[in-house]
Amino acid sequence: MKKNTIETLRWHNDHLEMIDQRILPTDFQYLAYHSAEGVAEGIRSMVVRGAPAIGCAAAYGVALAALNLKEANTESFLAGMEKAFTVLSQSRPTAVNLFWALKRMHQTMTAAAKSSPSQLAAILLTEAHRITREDIVINQTMGHYGATLLPDGARVLTHCNAGALATAGYGTALGVIRAAVESGKTISVIADETRPFLQGARLTAWEMVQENIPITLIADNMSGHLMHCGDIDAIIVGTDRVASNGDVANKIGTYMVAVLAKRHNIPFYVACPLSTIDRSIDTGNEIPIEERPSEEVTGYQNYRWAAQGVKVRNPAFDVTPADLVTALITEKGIVKHPNKERISMLF
Ligand code: MRU
Repeated sequence: MKKNTIETLRWHNDHLEMIDQRILPTDFQYLAYHSAEGVAEGIRSMVVRGAPAIGCAAAYGVALAALNLKEANTESFLAGMEKAFTVLSQSRPTAVNLFWALKRMHQTMTAAAKSSPSQLAAILLTEAHRITREDIVINQTMGHYGATLLPDGARVLTHCNAGALATAGYGTALGVIRAAVESGKTISVIADETRPFLQGARLTAWEMVQENIPITLIADNMSGHLMHCGDIDAIIVGTDRVASNGDVANKIGTYMVAVLAKRHNIPFYVACPLSTIDRSIDTGNEIPIEERPSEEVTGYQNYRWAAQGVKVRNPAFDVTPADLVTALITEKGIVKHPNKERISMLF
């Protein structure tokens, strides 16, 4: 398999570095993080985004907190660590990978409770590295399974960015496309621009251009027309949280695409690592949907196009009911027509 070329986040000496995804593709820059609070702010402000990448960043946030407290006594260490877990858990609400990674880090800390703060710091940093390395392998495995679903010559629509930038590397939905291309298939990608944060136009398009995978950018309101014209063969998206019954939360606009796909008899696939399945909730109705600042809708960066005083809604995610999902692609294989029973078999 090809080396991971985009390093969304990386450990450098004693700190974390993350690509600033807010300024791509015009500028490419890493920002340095030295504390859990800093990482939480990086997640909140979308320097890093995408469910698995958020989980990896949070794991490093915990490791940074531990490193900063390694000279403290055990009591102060544990009190400081609980604060770090809290601040990180409050950074964004929808992607369950954040809570999954924090839980794993917490369990690692608890399992080594007899160690000194400085030993715990080393153990937690090792665990953050492990979560990050595992993520890439999981994505490559999903890619391997998912690639079998795409026929040679397929024109594949994707929404948002579920690529290397949304993970530790390789990507979930774009990982499937990468794997299909690596297996020798000719694949072309159609990217929804993904208003209002433009993850499709700015990030997915950039990733595909980097790798010479043919990509066509469309505005979000064009996909129905392309489906009607017979220009789309399959749809693949990532996800931020899947409920026990297979309902899928993903970037706002995904639900619209899934309804259109059903209408046009186009397969709708969701690339979903097991860390994104939330077995503590029964249906998608229980998934918290983040509402983001109105400025993301009334303009872009420093430019405002909407009338002053207008009311705005900005839900960042929506829920696609399981019956619109043709299959989940996981690292344990493909789950066709996901439902509670089929999902529980994965665990
Ligand atoms: O708001 P974002 O950019 O964090 O939303 C990202 C998405 O919705 C992705 O599709 C999802 O996290 C899957 S990433 C592999």
